[in-house]
Amino acid sequence: MDKARIYTELLQEIRSVLQGEDDDIARMSSVCAILKRGLPWASWVGFYREIAPRLLVVGPYQGEMGCLRIPFDRGVCGAAARTGVTQVVPDVHAFEGHIACDSTARSEIVVPVRDRSGRVFAVLDLDSRLPAAFDEIDRSYLEVVANEIPLPARS
Ligand code: SME
Repeated sequence: MDKARIYTELLQEIRSVLQGEDDDIARMSSVCAILKRGLPWASWVGFYREIAPRLLVVGPYQGEMGCLRIPFDRGVCGAAARTGVTQVVPDVHAFEGHIACDSTARSEIVVPVRDRSGRVFAVLDLDSRLPAAFDEIDRSYLEVVANEIPLPARS
């Protein structure tokens, strides 16, 4: 499977769909739909947004029901939000503090999403039922995708 090629096409689609759309929910929902359909190794694709200091809440997303709220000090999502660094987790059972929303999840990647001032306001979370499904290719492209989310108006 040529992941880079898949991501290159998805990125084009994301850019064209987001063009001119200034509603946050529409933008994030569309990114979830495009990634979920285009990445067969991902079983769950979604955002957790910081709605209060150091507290994430789920949505938009595609997949089975996710945990609703995640504090910054918990889980892979919390670690990404807290540190501002993408978390690639090849084996979720080996990650201290992993939150098992879906018992079939085996691996995960969580990418911080920053506003134009550089502040993390959300994370983009992808889960897989396969072990070690996400690698450096996923990380590099999903970080580019995360960069497409913030509205110019946020600056
Ligand atoms: N596993 C995540 C929680 C979110 S769900 O996977 C949808 C975590 O540990 O942060």
